[in-house]
Amino acid sequence: MPDSSTPPRTIRLADYRLPDFLIDAVDLAFDLREDGATVTSRLTMRRNPATSDPAAPLVLDGQDLKLTGIALDGEALGANRYTVDAEHLTVTDLPGVFTLDITTEIAPQQNTTMQGLYTSGGNFCTQCEAEGFRHITYYLDRPDILARYTTTIVADKAKYPVLLSNGNPVETTDLGGGRHRAKWEDPFPKPSYLFALVAGDLVAVEDSFTTRSGRDIALKIFTRRGDHTKVDHAMRALKASMAWDEQVYGFEYDLDLFMIVAVSDFNMGAMENKGLNIFNTALVLASRETATDGDFQRVESVVAHEYFHNWTGNRITCRDWFQLSLKEGLTVFRDQEFSGDMNSRPVQRITDVRRLRAIQFPEDGGPIAHPIRPESYIEINNFYTPTVYEKGAEVIRMIHTLIGPERYRKGMDLYVARHDGQAATCENFVAAMEDASGTDLKLFRRWYSQAGTPEIVVEDSWDDAAGRYSLTLRQSTGPTPGQPDKQPLHIPFALGLLDAQGRDLPVRLAGEAAPAAGTRVLSLTAAEQRFDFDGLAARPVPSLFRGFSAPIKLAPQPRDRLAFLFAHDSDPFNRWEAGQQLATQLLLEGVAARKAGQDWRLDAEFVAAIGRLLDDPALDAAFIAEATALPGESFLADQMRVIDVEGIHAVREAARLAVATALRDRLLAVYRANDDHGPFDVSAAAVGKRALKNAALSYLGLLRDDAEATALVLAQARGAQTMTDVLAALTVLRDRDIPERAQVLQDFYDRWQDEPLVIDKWFALQATSSLPGTLDAIRALTRHPAFTLRNPNRARALISSLAMGNPLHFHAADGAGYAFLADQVLALNAANPQLAARILVPLGRWQRHDPGRQAAMQAQLDRILAAPDLSRDVYEIAAKSRA
Ligand code: PHE
Ligand code: ZN
Repeated sequence: MPDSSTPPRTIRLADYRLPDFLIDAVDLAFDLREDGATVTSRLTMRRNPATSDPAAPLVLDGQDLKLTGIALDGEALGANRYTVDAEHLTVTDLPGVFTLDITTEIAPQQNTTMQGLYTSGGNFCTQCEAEGFRHITYYLDRPDILARYTTTIVADKAKYPVLLSNGNPVETTDLGGGRHRAKWEDPFPKPSYLFALVAGDLVAVEDSFTTRSGRDIALKIFTRRGDHTKVDHAMRALKASMAWDEQVYGFEYDLDLFMIVAVSDFNMGAMENKGLNIFNTALVLASRETATDGDFQRVESVVAHEYFHNWTGNRITCRDWFQLSLKEGLTVFRDQEFSGDMNSRPVQRITDVRRLRAIQFPEDGGPIAHPIRPESYIEINNFYTPTVYEKGAEVIRMIHTLIGPERYRKGMDLYVARHDGQAATCENFVAAMEDASGTDLKLFRRWYSQAGTPEIVVEDSWDDAAGRYSLTLRQSTGPTPGQPDKQPLHIPFALGLLDAQGRDLPVRLAGEAAPAAGTRVLSLTAAEQRFDFDGLAARPVPSLFRGFSAPIKLAPQPRDRLAFLFAHDSDPFNRWEAGQQLATQLLLEGVAARKAGQDWRLDAEFVAAIGRLLDDPALDAAFIAEATALPGESFLADQMRVIDVEGIHAVREAARLAVATALRDRLLAVYRANDDHGPFDVSAAAVGKRALKNAALSYLGLLRDDAEATALVLAQARGAQTMTDVLAALTVLRDRDIPERAQVLQDFYDRWQDEPLVIDKWFALQATSSLPGTLDAIRALTRHPAFTLRNPNRARALISSLAMGNPLHFHAADGAGYAFLADQVLALNAANPQLAARILVPLGRWQRHDPGRQAAMQAQLDRILAAPDLSRDVYEIAAKSRA
C-alpha cells in the first residue's frame, strides 16, 4: 500500500456471518458494444429468515461500475434510499420480499485484470471466481448466495456470431440492424462465481455423450478458427471423464449441454463455470506438432478436473472462500485418480509427488505458509495455492487411504445426500466421511488447521530371539507464521516389510493373526509411537510410507537400505523414491565436498544401479525414465539448511555427466530401441517410449566431444515429428554453447511464430538456460516483438520460467535476477494484480539463502512495498514475504 494509506483489511474465517438477504433469481441482460457494455440485472430477493437483524440494510458488492439506474419493485429509487462507495451499493429500508433492478455501465475493452467481463483477441469472456462478478454488476458476491440465473446477450451478429452463457439455450433472435440476441437459462441455483458469458467469433467441434441413464448430452468445444483442429484430445478426455465419474463416483451430468471455450488471455488454467467451462488455450489445445506429451497429459487432467467440479464444486459449493480446499483439494484428488487410471498409475503418482515437493513444500516452509483451510486473507486471489490444491488433495487421499475405497465411496454418497444444492464446509465433508466410515477423524482434522510439513524420524530394532521387529516413529512440525507450536497429526503410515530377496512379507502387528503379505496401512497419531511386528524369521527391510501415504518429509535412511529398495521394492513409488533419496544423499555430499575444496565423484555403485535399470525388461519405460533422472536443483535446495546455488548446479551436472560417460553405449542403445517412428498416439506405452528415449538423450547430450551424440541431438531438434521430441532436443541445446544453437532456435521461431503456445515454449526454453549471459538474453527477450506482459501465458513463459525453473540465474549472486523480477512485478501491478502477485512469490523465499542473497531479495521486496498504488494482491504477498 502507498505509505499514505492504511494497509488493506484482513478477512477472517472467524468473522463469517450468514447473509442478511437471499437472492432467489437473477435476470441479467448484457448489451455488448465496441465502446463498452450495459448490464441490467433484476434481483428477486428476500430477507434471510435465519439472520438476527430484521432491519439490516442491503449491502451489495460492486467495483469499477458506473451505476445508471436503480429501481425497487419497479419504481425508481430515491437518492436518499441508497449510497454508493468504491466497493458497495447500500440500500436501506427494504421490505421482506422485493425485486431490485440495477443498471451498470462497464468497460470490458479496458479491463486488463482478466476478472469480470473482459475481451481477449476481440471476443468477450468472463472470469468470476473468486470475486469477479462484482466487476459486472452489484450483487451479493459470496459463494453462499445460490440463485437461478437467466442471461440475455445482445451483440453485433457478424462480429459475435456465438453468444453463450450457463445452462440451456432458450431463444435466439435476429434483432435487425446487424444485431442479435440469445437467451440462456440455468435451472441449477449457483453462486455468482460460476456465472459465465462468452460472445465471439468461434467455431465449435461437437460430439455427444450418453449418460448411464440414457440421456444424450451435447458436447461442444469452442475455439478460434484454426485451433479447432487441436481439440480431439480434449474431447476424448471429456468423454472419458464423464464415463469415469459415473463409474467411480456415481456422478451423472445434469444439463443437456456441456461447453468448453478456449481463451488465449487467462490468468489461471481453467474455470468450471456451470455448463460453460472457460479454458486457457494452453490447457485445451493439443496436437502432435505443437504439444508435448506432458501437455497432452495436463490437458487430459484439467479437462477432467473442471468437469469433475460439476459435482464437487458446483452442485455442492463452498460456504465461504476459506473452504476453497473443499472443492479444490477434493477435485485435484479426483483428477489425479482419473489420470492414474488413464495412464501409468505409478508414474502419475511420481509426477504428482514431484509437483507437491517442488511447489507446495517450499510454500509450507516459507513466509506465506498456511493451512489448507486458511484462517485469514487480504486478497482471496492469493489463496489459490499449491497448499489449498495439492496439499488439499493429499489430505483427501489420506482419508481415502485410512478408510479404504469402499468406505470412502460411502462417505462421498453421504456427503452428496446431505449437501447437494448447498454451500458446504470442510467440516461437513469430514463429518460425512467419519459418519459413513465409522472411523474417528477427530485428530485427523488438524490437517485442515495446521500448516507446515511434518518431519518424521524412524528408528528400527530387531530382536532375533523373539523374531520381533520394531519401528519407532517420531513426528514434528516446525513453526510457521502465526503457528509457533504444532500438535501431532494423524498420519497414515503405509508399510511394507521385505525379505532379503525383496519379497513382501506379511506385516503382522504383535498379538495379531498373520495378514496376507503386502502393504499395510497403520496410523501414526502420537508425537512418538512404536510398532512391533512378529512372526519374522530374520530382520526385514522396511519400505516406509509406500506410495507417499502422507505429505511428510522422512529423515534420511541408511544408504544400504535405500540401495536395496531401489533395486527391489515391489511398490513402484517407493522404488523410485529410494533412488531419489539415495541420489540426494550422494549429491549433497558432493556439494559439501566442493565447498570444502575436496574431490568428489558420484558413487560408482549408484551409476551401476542406474545402468541396470536402463534396460530392465521387467520395467515400464516411463518408470525407467523417472527412476534414472536425478532429483532437480530445487528439490536439492529444499534439503539444505543454507542453499548453495552454484554448488548444487555444478555437482548435479557433474553427476549427470558421470552417468552419461559411464553408460554411454547403453544409453545409445536405449535411445535407438525406443526411437519409434510408427503412427503417433499418446497411449501410456508410446508416451513411455518417448520419455525413455529422451531421458537417454538428455544424458547423451552432455557428452560434448562425442560427435555421434551431438549429431543425434541436432537431428532430433531439426527433424523430429513431435513437439515432445523437438523440445527434448532443444532442451539439450539450450545448455550447449555450440554454433548451431542460435540457428536451431531461430528456425524454431520462424516455423512456429503464428502458434502462440509454441512461442511460449520458445521463451520458456531460453529463460531456463544455464549458459552464462542468460539474464541478459532474457532482458533482451522482453523487447522481442512477440513478448508482452499483457498475455499471462507469455509473461509466465519468460518471467516465471526464470524465477521458478532457473535457480542458477534467478539466484545469481549479484542480485540481478531479483531486480529483474521486481521490475516485472511493478510493471504488472496495476494492469493485472493477480498475475503480478503470483510471479512475485519466489522473491519471498529468502530464508535459506546466504546473507548476501537474503539482503538482495529483501531489498527488492522493500522496493516493491515502497511503490505507489500497490494492489492488494501484491501488497499481501510482498508484505508477508518481507516479515
Ligand atoms: N476454480 C478454478 C479451478 O481450479 C481455478 C480458477 C480460480 C480459475 C480462479 C480462475 C480464477 O479449477
Ligand atoms: Zn479446481
